Amino acid sequence: MKILICVFSGTGHTFLAARAIEKGFKEAGASVDLHAIKRPYKDLPDSSKYDYVGLGYPIHAFNAPKIFVDYCKLLPKTENNTKVFFFKTSGEPFHPNSASSILAYKSLKKKGYDIIQDTHMLMPYNIMFRYKDALAKQMYLYTMAMSKLIVKKILCGNFEHPKYNFFTRIFATIFRIEWICSFAVGPFYHVKKDKCSKCGLCVKKCPSSNIKLTEKGIKFGAHCSTCMKCVFECPCDAVRPGILNPWRVNGRYDFNGYLKDDSIPNVYITDETKGYFKHFKKYYNLVDKELKSYNIEVF
Ligand SMILES: Cc1cc2nc3c(=O)[nH]c(=O)nc-3n(C[C@H](O)[C@H](O)[C@H](O)COP(=O)(O)O)c2cc1C
Repeated sequence: MKILICVFSGTGHTFLAARAIEKGFKEAGASVDLHAIKRPYKDLPDSSKYDYVGLGYPIHAFNAPKIFVDYCKLLPKTENNTKVFFFKTSGEPFHPNSASSILAYKSLKKKGYDIIQDTHMLMPYNIMFRYKDALAKQMYLYTMAMSKLIVKKILCGNFEHPKYNFFTRIFATIFRIEWICSFAVGPFYHVKKDKCSKCGLCVKKCPSSNIKLTEKGIKFGAHCSTCMKCVFECPCDAVRPGILNPWRVNGRYDFNGYLKDDSIPNVYITDETKGYFKHFKKYYNLVDKELKSYNIEVF
């Protein structure tokens, strides 16, 4: 069995899921190629030659980021009925997130791909506000378990051709304005001169190749994906994302550290949870049921 996994990930959360899916397939004896989606699009793998293609992305404003949708449009036609599974991560389980794959879905369908899954996993917000360590730990543990679920369902031939509800599609269409905003916001990104060491890490890591090191210092172009990688990765905390600065969350979540730290509980969302996070309960209850039916343990 030949599997291709192509993933766009800003701050690494979706990439962690991609790695876990890769591991699951390899353990089952499949051959897996993992490809990170970056601009300029180079060395595109021939997705039509694989049995299964996994396409992963973080949800941005109820949609897939433009860099991901453009990538899907470049994939070749298939005559072998190649099967595609989407996997996506986002900060909350709101229903309007569910039609985020619609444009990629339509483009791949036209090229003959058979879309067999669209799995939504939760990972902590990398914008707006920082989630508590315990919630980030729970999200990570569940994402790892759900990555096993994705693999298991495919290996069992249990396909769920996704259907996108009319209202969530309208929602996604309206919020696609974020694509234009990213274009407009990008050039206003800047670095704080007193903090920036000009190490060039942001230039090297930007998946949109939107950052340059010039004689005058670090310059941002107009092709930002607002993925927040530069903000997260900067070792000097120097990057300021223009008008998004009030919602900046800087510094990675230390998932490995949370796993080792027994003082951080594995579960943050419980039946007793109240307030903003109470709507996460329904999501986790559904996931628990599904994981149980496939004998997959989270902890
Ligand atoms: C510009 C932007 C928009 C986002 N919009 C949403 C959203 O609409 N819904 C949501 O649940 N999470 C949203 N998020 C949160 C990310 O989807 C989440 O943190 C994800 O795990 C990041 O994955 P990555 O590290 O692979 O980029 C947004 C993040 C960014 C940077």
